[in-house]
Amino acid sequence: MLEELHRLRAQAEEELQAVEDLAALDAWRRTYVGKNGLVTQALRGIGKLPPDQRPAAGQLANEVRQTLESAFEARQAALQQRALDEDLAKGAIDVRLPGRPPSVGTLHLSTQTLREIYAIFAQMGFQVLRSREVEDDTTNFQLLNIPPHHPARDMWSTFYTTTPGALLRTHTSPGQIHAMRKHYPEPIRVILPGKCYRYEQVTLRSEHMFHQVEGLAVGRNITMADLKGVLTNFARQMFGAERKLRFRPSYFPFTEPSAEADIDCILCAGAGCPMCKYTGWLEILGAGMVHPTVLRNGGYDPDVYSGFAFGMGPERLAILKHRITDIRNFFSGDVRFLQQFP
Ligand code: DAH
Repeated sequence: MLEELHRLRAQAEEELQAVEDLAALDAWRRTYVGKNGLVTQALRGIGKLPPDQRPAAGQLANEVRQTLESAFEARQAALQQRALDEDLAKGAIDVRLPGRPPSVGTLHLSTQTLREIYAIFAQMGFQVLRSREVEDDTTNFQLLNIPPHHPARDMWSTFYTTTPGALLRTHTSPGQIHAMRKHYPEPIRVILPGKCYRYEQVTLRSEHMFHQVEGLAVGRNITMADLKGVLTNFARQMFGAERKLRFRPSYFPFTEPSAEADIDCILCAGAGCPMCKYTGWLEILGAGMVHPTVLRNGGYDPDVYSGFAFGMGPERLAILKHRITDIRNFFSGDVRFLQQFP
């Protein structure tokens, strides 16, 4: 009997060593220490032994059972711990990996260009004034000397709305009316930046939405020489101290006389190249002396006051300055474009 118990213990311990998962462990438990296990059976058989063998056999059998039960518990704890470790390892974060740096944004090229423009005009005493993007037909057109059905309206393809008379401004020029009505009878020196909208085919050169910066000066004895001086100063700060500026006669309903201003080509300085289409000049803005009718609509007596105005497109200026080939890059949200202007 004693030998049998020793053998049983050795066998059980050996098998326990080979148990690698909880299912096999349960099977082992049933085989040896369960209700009908071999050790349990041996314990039951002790009563049938001759009385003098019983104490020794009983003691050993109990010892074997206790040894195996604690071996079982140890193995169970080890297997549970291993299962937990494996589980944790699967979901683990390796904190030694370098992190992903958050990408740092930059100011949009339009914003940068606008700020450059503000800074230059600020030196010449121009204040920034904001004006509405949703306009009425009266202010966007009629008060600027563009009557309904006048062919000059063809210069501005317009987004109308379902509200009669309400439209998206096609240019920043209606801001001139707001500025004059707000400041009359004071002299005015303002720039009016903001978004404009045109119902046009989107191409390399035109977008539905773009910025303009309007300029307006109203006072006594303001002449075209003042306009030219202001714009020459602007062009030289924006495009290089050696720039030349020329006025070409043009037509706008709200200025008389009207001009378009060109700078000598920033690439070839007037010699002729593909950028200036071999003309030597690049158009940068429209300008003129505020039309008497417009002055009157703003509240200013054209016999007493005069003024000049101009309008430019910052995207267009940035296109020239940075030789950008497609205006659609500005608002398509492609960071590969935007990141080139940190
Ligand atoms: N509003 C004009 C346009 O969008 C630009 C312009 C031209 C503005 C001449 C002016 C100006 O103030 O005098 O085409």
